[in-house]
Amino acid sequence: MTSTTSISLANLDHFAHGAPWDLFAELRANDPVNWSEEEEPQSGFWSIMSYHDIVKVLRDPETFTSERFTNLEEVDAEQEEARRSLLETDGARHRALRRLLQGQFTPAAVARYETFLRGLTATTLDEAFAKGEFDFVQEVSADFPIQVLAKLLDVPEEDTGQLIEWGNRMVGFDDPEHADLLMHSPESEEFRLVPFRSPAALEVFAYGDELARARKGKDGDDLVSVMVNSEMSDGIKLSERDFHTNFLLLVVAGNETTRHTISHTMRNLMEHPDQLAILQENPDLIPWAVEEFLRFASPVYHFRRTATKDVEFGGRMISEGDKVVPWFASGNRDDAVFDRPNDFDVTRTPNEHMTFGRGGPHMCLGNALARIEIRVMFEDLISRIDSVELTGEIDYLRSNFVHGIKRMPVKVNLR
Ligand code: HEM
Repeated sequence: MTSTTSISLANLDHFAHGAPWDLFAELRANDPVNWSEEEEPQSGFWSIMSYHDIVKVLRDPETFTSERFTNLEEVDAEQEEARRSLLETDGARHRALRRLLQGQFTPAAVARYETFLRGLTATTLDEAFAKGEFDFVQEVSADFPIQVLAKLLDVPEEDTGQLIEWGNRMVGFDDPEHADLLMHSPESEEFRLVPFRSPAALEVFAYGDELARARKGKDGDDLVSVMVNSEMSDGIKLSERDFHTNFLLLVVAGNETTRHTISHTMRNLMEHPDQLAILQENPDLIPWAVEEFLRFASPVYHFRRTATKDVEFGGRMISEGDKVVPWFASGNRDDAVFDRPNDFDVTRTPNEHMTFGRGGPHMCLGNALARIEIRVMFEDLISRIDSVELTGEIDYLRSNFVHGIKRMPVKVNLR
């Protein structure tokens, strides 16, 4: 397999200092369906860089399946069987699993949490702002999303610190600072049957089991109660594996993604004081500006698919079994869809970004929840600040999966 460019998106050096927007632009222009070699035992992957091509891939799960898993790690049949969640299921079973959970994630369902979110936001910002100078990630964005998830799962407040730690250990699998075992290390082999090859996943399963035991047969309406007490619409019971993997998915999916969106948005507002000023003068624009926050943050670079047959796509021959990676972050900067795509414009309209995917069966289940969290956070934050300054280096997660900020020292000047 050859690429017309020499850029490999498997090379994590490209991602050590945030998103490689220029590389994405070059690939969109010169090699929009390109091949990256990977180190053994991985076999390389196709990257889909352009918005419209990405939409085609997402909407064609029969050709581009999620069933062979959705990050770059290649898994065998035994691992698939043990690790499969909603995210890695297609077809009728996917629809049944999604139906089980979706009632808790509609805009109306998540609107019930607005008062709780306002309280949580106010406390988070009170404590951070009292410090004057602080690490924005640690003090504001890191714990906020998981505290919301804890509410949806109805877990005791004192357990949220533990949930945060598990989330960090699992999702930072490429980053030595976070992971206990790096995903491609020989030591991680022992944990090959658990998500992210992470021992933390086993702890999350055990914790989920405890909650499930306590709620089985009761009439709670939290996510765990819904999972253990509802009938499946396809008549196939939720297995222990289904419960474990989907519980873990819920813990992970809304954690890092929302955290990094909040951190990136703070960074973007610092770097674009004119846009901050627009929102300070017109706070009614914030609900709409959230879409630009999401487009510009692109906290998940991609979720991969696998070709189920040989297929010609974008002038390239993709073979059955090849990994195919739609780069949402690249699609979000595609000038075929977005006017001046590299401008952070909080009044941008329309704004059909692909931060949650775009169409297709796996479109983010938590998108309404993420949107309300981000809106409430910035409605409060923007109303209190005069300006925010960066006081040191921003430290990025070294990953081509999650576009994350680990540390961002700031000084806040209040109104
Ligand atoms: C800004 C925050 C978020 C971003 C950027 C994000 C992004 C995404 C994306 C791109 C997908 C599609 C995966 C694919 O195509 O294979 C997805 C799926 C999913 N997300 Fe989110 N997400 C966010 C927040 C959340 C939250 C708060 C939750 C709630 C727990 C959540 C739960 C899920 C679930 C369960 C799926 C799997 C859906 C399925 O396979 O049918 N996400 N997310």
